[in-house]
Amino acid sequence: MSKIKQVLSVNFGKIQPDSVEEYVKAGGYEALKKAFSMEPVAIINEVKAAKLLGRGGAAYPAGSKWEQLYEIQEFPKYIVCNADEGEPGTFKDKMLLEKDPLRVIEGMTIAGKVFNSHEGYIYIRGEYRKIQKVFQSALDNAEKAGYLGNNILGTDFSFKIHIMTGAGAYVCGENSALLNSTEGKVGRPRIKPPHLAEVGLFLMPTLVNNVESFANVPTIVLVGGDEYLSYGTPDSGGTKLVCLSGHAANRGVYEVPFGVTLRDIIFDEEIGGGVANGGKLKFYHLGGQSGPIGFPEQLDTAYCCKVMRNNGLSVGSGAVVVLDESVCIIDYLKSVTEFFIHESCGKCVPCREGNTQLQFILDKFSKGTATEADFALMKKLSTTMAKASFCGLGQAATTALDSCLKYRKAEFEAHLNKQCPAGVCFTNEEGGE
Ligand SMILES: Cc1cc2nc3c(=O)[nH]c(=O)nc-3n(C[C@H](O)[C@H](O)[C@H](O)COP(=O)(O)O)c2cc1C
Ligand code: SF4
Repeated sequence: MSKIKQVLSVNFGKIQPDSVEEYVKAGGYEALKKAFSMEPVAIINEVKAAKLLGRGGAAYPAGSKWEQLYEIQEFPKYIVCNADEGEPGTFKDKMLLEKDPLRVIEGMTIAGKVFNSHEGYIYIRGEYRKIQKVFQSALDNAEKAGYLGNNILGTDFSFKIHIMTGAGAYVCGENSALLNSTEGKVGRPRIKPPHLAEVGLFLMPTLVNNVESFANVPTIVLVGGDEYLSYGTPDSGGTKLVCLSGHAANRGVYEVPFGVTLRDIIFDEEIGGGVANGGKLKFYHLGGQSGPIGFPEQLDTAYCCKVMRNNGLSVGSGAVVVLDESVCIIDYLKSVTEFFIHESCGKCVPCREGNTQLQFILDKFSKGTATEADFALMKKLSTTMAKASFCGLGQAATTALDSCLKYRKAEFEAHLNKQCPAGVCFTNEEGGE
């Protein structure tokens, strides 16, 4: 039986992405019409029943977020779609924006109706320049067809969506930094509380959800929260777009129902197809650079936000980077830390200095000059960074390191003795490259 379930990706490659006519023929905008006949609270209740967990990485329940914003009686309210997609190994929002942008637009418009908001923003990463054109064309066509803009579907509800462009900073994906950047300020995180539902864009109540989260909304409204929940597990409703990369045999984006196993995702012939070139799986990095690393003995874990979290793993953004035995864990962690050094905005010391110090210690391991004391120092640094960093970037920068220290300490220990199981380190001394 196929492990794939197409809900969000059902139109991929089948319709011209910016064509309202083709989107409508494929069942598009039925949910918006239905939403117009529903009370806002009824829609929020469906989102709650669906157990839609935010797809941007933190898996925060969308229903609770919507409920909190609804209760705030201050206007205008803003709807913001996070399309920064800066997490390495993640390219599923790209697919949605490129192949079915009207689904995202419909989801945002339904949210606009729920909160009586008249303005939405989508913050699309700068690297997705071509996609911005497709998205703008879809927006224009939706407006021409009466599904967006003034007096949508002949009603007194009006809603516009503006595109904002990032400029390649990972931290701008953090929701408050994203709002600062949208306002034309430096893209640095804000202190929270106050939460964005109270003080968001232009200091007004704001909803920030990920592209994939919004894309799920039309389906939830159409089929109902209970039905949507049944596609996945009792804790994680619906499906998830997963991004296979690295040494996976079949790299790409696949839609799976929550509840399949990691083994299904990596090894199923229709999904990851195993390790490329007959390689052996060494580890896999989940949810981007800020996510944990999983190992072969954890492959039977169900891909469900709660089960994964209970097992020290994470769904995160949906990235699954597969690594074979040619990869050295220390070398890999050095590349992760390099990423965080590059992307740290520099605002707080634990993140700015912590990542640099970690890189220094990891470098000692790869040169064979590390000592037993460095383990304790790395642990201490990791705990301090997780607890004292100002935002999620610094707080999660050592998640991958922590997984490796917990499950593969032996590989670090081998490096103390100048042994690199993957044969990557110490090659100079042995006459290699
Ligand atoms: C450093 C950092 C980068 C982030 N990057 C993204 C991103 O690129 N896209 C995204 O949707 N969420 C990103 N997030 C999470 C957002 O802050 C926020 O939780 C999300 O947009 C909320 O949407 P959701 O609840 O629908 O997932 C990032 C968080 C952090 C700390
Ligand atoms: S943790 Fe601190 S330095 Fe790092 S990105 Fe966040 S605010 Fe900037």
